[in-house]
Amino acid sequence: MTIDLTPDEAAARIADLATQIAQANEDYHAKDAPRISDADYDALKRELAALEAAFPDLKPADSPSDLVGAAPAEGFGKVVHRQRMMSLENAFSDNDVTDFVARIRSFLNLSAEAPLRFTTEPKIDGLSLSLRYENRALLQAATRGDGTVGENVTANARTISDIPKTLPADAPAILEVRGEVYMTHADFARLNETGPRSFANPRNAAAGSLRQIDPAITASRPLRFFAYAWGEISVPLAETQSGAVARLADFGFATNPLMQTCDDPRQMLSAWTGIEQQRATLGYDIDGVVYKVDDLSYQARLGFRSTTPRWALAHKFPAELAWTRLEAIDIQVGRTGALSPVARLAPVTVGGVVVSNATLHNEDYIAGRDSNGAQIRDTDIRVGDWVQVYRAGDVIPKVSAVDQSRRTNPDPYRFPDHCPACGAEAIREPGDSVRRCTGGLACPAQAVEKLKHFVSRAAFDIEGLGAKQIEMFFADDILPIREPADIFTLAERDGRNLARLKNRDGFGERSAEKLFAAIEERRSVPLARLIFALGIRHVGEVAAATLARHYGDLPAMIGALDAAAPAAERHIAADEAVTAERAAAAAQGRRARIAETRDAVWSDPPLPAAARIAWDDLTNINSIGAVLAQSLVTAFHQPAERAVIDRVIAQLDVRSAEAAPAQDSPIAGQTVVFTGTLEKMTRAEAKARAEAMGAKVAGSVSAKTDLVVAGPGAGSKAKKAEELGIRIIDEDEWLAIAAT
Ligand code: IVH
Repeated sequence: MTIDLTPDEAAARIADLATQIAQANEDYHAKDAPRISDADYDALKRELAALEAAFPDLKPADSPSDLVGAAPAEGFGKVVHRQRMMSLENAFSDNDVTDFVARIRSFLNLSAEAPLRFTTEPKIDGLSLSLRYENRALLQAATRGDGTVGENVTANARTISDIPKTLPADAPAILEVRGEVYMTHADFARLNETGPRSFANPRNAAAGSLRQIDPAITASRPLRFFAYAWGEISVPLAETQSGAVARLADFGFATNPLMQTCDDPRQMLSAWTGIEQQRATLGYDIDGVVYKVDDLSYQARLGFRSTTPRWALAHKFPAELAWTRLEAIDIQVGRTGALSPVARLAPVTVGGVVVSNATLHNEDYIAGRDSNGAQIRDTDIRVGDWVQVYRAGDVIPKVSAVDQSRRTNPDPYRFPDHCPACGAEAIREPGDSVRRCTGGLACPAQAVEKLKHFVSRAAFDIEGLGAKQIEMFFADDILPIREPADIFTLAERDGRNLARLKNRDGFGERSAEKLFAAIEERRSVPLARLIFALGIRHVGEVAAATLARHYGDLPAMIGALDAAAPAAERHIAADEAVTAERAAAAAQGRRARIAETRDAVWSDPPLPAAARIAWDDLTNINSIGAVLAQSLVTAFHQPAERAVIDRVIAQLDVRSAEAAPAQDSPIAGQTVVFTGTLEKMTRAEAKARAEAMGAKVAGSVSAKTDLVVAGPGAGSKAKKAEELGIRIIDEDEWLAIAAT
């Protein structure tokens, strides 16, 4: 992937990708209702990872690159995993696989000839489950959740016959077995014919069946389980991955019969081809092959990145395809005004699922270009075209190709330049792939989407007031909810109406009272939730928490944002001036004077010092970039939007943020520099270990350095550290710290 973006463009794109990925995670993990295909999801994650690698300073502290899934759903008890449940790094090409093996050899400092064995096994398309056995009895079962906290589904897991309730005497006293819950194609088809609702695919059916509040329902569903990994364990199972899985089979777990071992990338790729050839006849969904380093002592040395082990790789299969007719292109308007085109298709079966909608992303995608303007297809997409639909394992797929020989429509699709919901102009800002409605809160589509966001789970989370009810109240003339403040005046307004809510269809006395009580309960709200709930573009859940911690309370935050407003305007003006200077320089064939142009706008006319201070303070917060800052300040400065914010605040008791807890590792929060030769660990291994302990690893020594680990041959860096009076230790002392 070539990256040709300015830092501001990259920041905007990173924020945009982070939002899309967070939404997709929520849809997939919490709602069991994915709206984009796995392949699209993977593409978003890859683009984000590439941008974060190119612009490491712009990587948000809460980047979805570091998250595994979504937080657990309400309704189940929560289980904190004693060892995190990890995700897998994905690969899509043979090269990715050879690179993976090469990276491992280099990390472990193994020569090209040294033996290095891998296991290969199908990647089951189900949902992962962790089973905790103590004294050989099944004690607890938990879903992955966000990797740290999952849902307690013990009663449900007990109903699955592949899961042993007790283990033989030679099993360790503490053993957490991890694996995948799935449903076979045959069982899925039977369930969809006879069951209460139809599921889009076996994975959703398995997830929906396991996450039933009533275990009797789970018991009636034909769920299966393959064991392939483990968490906490009192005695090691074996010295190898393959040996450990064989022991799990001895204990009575179902393990996948296609698992084998390979000694080089060539064998691994041929195992992949072999498994892919069997895919259609296995009787259950798999979406790739997982490779794992077989030697468990190597696994231990390789360790983990934030969410994935370094010793494993998921090599995905290509997606499934089908042809159908594109009947119409509809435009949906999102919370921030984004116009999203949706393909309405003549229904077609792709990989066993009937598909009638597909995402078309944005206007560039319809025109055949990606967001950098590069050609991605030989033609545009037109209404009436025969299109190829592409999906991989889940629900809303995408249009991947067009059959031009069957085209009858002479007119390319014209993307609307006005909002279909409110008629306001829809504009595309430079660097943004998305066209947005400028109607703001006057646009009913944006207003209703903003309200849905306001009541969503990570925001106000009001029981009995979900997306459906918001739509109803938004359209209601007697008891309307048109903006957030209206939610908190609902009960009082209802009391003054003649037609009371309790007398309506779908509401009784009890449900109306329950709704009012649920709203009342949320009147007192933590600052972070409020900030997130406002639905300001680029301000996600983690950014909201960061802002709340930074400012502490609401008056301090509003004061700072008000003060920063003139600087935010200057920031926008400076960006515009830089764009103009770039164009002028290109036309005149000279180098663009970026820094000078920017400085000129900032300094003339002079800005009140308080504005600059407030702006710098905001943009210096870790992970809050200029793009987010600008969006935030604008939301509080724009009069109509500010009035909406002020009205809801007047209804609330906003609670101040608490200070962040300290991490307990001797080097947490410190900046560490490694220099000289390390003999017992590779540099990559040392860096990974330090980062896992909460330290930042820097390449050079400065006043900000806290600790220098100097091996033999350390030169100028160690000297500089000495001059600065920074603590210097040798490799053995470092190993002692690393072992803590
Ligand atoms: S190993 C520490 N092996 O894929 C790594 N995972 O995309 C633990 N999955 O969360 C995972 N089949 O739910 C592993 N044979 C297999 C798998 C497998 C399916 C799932 C698992 C994981 C996800 C990552």
